[in-house]
Amino acid sequence: MGYRFLRSIPAYTATPRLTDVTFIPAAPAHQDLLERWDEQAHVIESDPHDDWNWGVELARTVAWREQWLALAAQTPIGFIQIIDPQQEESHYWGDIAAGYRAIDIWIGEADFLGKGYGTHLMQWAIERCFSDPTVHTILIDPLTSNTRAIRFYERLGFVFVRLQRFGEDHCHVYQLPRMRA
Ligand SMILES: CC(C)(COP(=O)(O)OP(=O)(O)OC[C@H]1O[C@@H](n2cnc3c(N)ncnc32)[C@H](O)[C@@H]1OP(=O)(O)O)[C@@H](O)C(=O)NCCC(=O)NCCS
Repeated sequence: MGYRFLRSIPAYTATPRLTDVTFIPAAPAHQDLLERWDEQAHVIESDPHDDWNWGVELARTVAWREQWLALAAQTPIGFIQIIDPQQEESHYWGDIAAGYRAIDIWIGEADFLGKGYGTHLMQWAIERCFSDPTVHTILIDPLTSNTRAIRFYERLGFVFVRLQRFGEDHCHVYQLPRMRA
């Protein structure tokens, strides 16, 4: 793993099936799948006001964003987006310094919730962010109402920063700073 912060994550018992998880870049061919996931109750609950505009965004490659599909034994189960909030076009995170990354994540298939996949996906995303030596901090912004996600991020070591309103959404901002060995 190579980073001390990952060793500090509380002990987590991986199940053998987690070794089957792979990641592929999200692509226009995944539009129907992502739109179906957008209609799942647990996804709507976590992000009721956002429109991901998949038809346009999946066809667009930009330097400030990565979008990934996670597969468990070849079955797509979840989505991860990593952005550089300083470079992101809408300036969602406002005026922000260099060296941050912000992550969005969801398990699309409800049958795969609560089985350790989210933890596995997030650990992969964290490691990917910090593999860039210029990145010092990862940000996330769960809705204040999303207590399950908040517990999930706290277990991964994220630290509460502030309450913040993004448009109509009342969020808890958390961050995970890089911890150097
Ligand atoms: C938040 C989210 C990504 C977490 O993913 P997940 O796969 O459900 O997470 P995990 O299974 O790794 O851990 C969550 C729970 O499952 C439990 N768990 C972990 N490994 C497990 C396993 N092998 N078997 C059963 N349960 C397990 C954890 O103890 C935890 O329990 P808790 O809810 O009581 O705290 C997922 O719930 C999700 O997609 N939610 C909707 C979208 C969302 O909220 N995204 C975040 C927006 S900021």
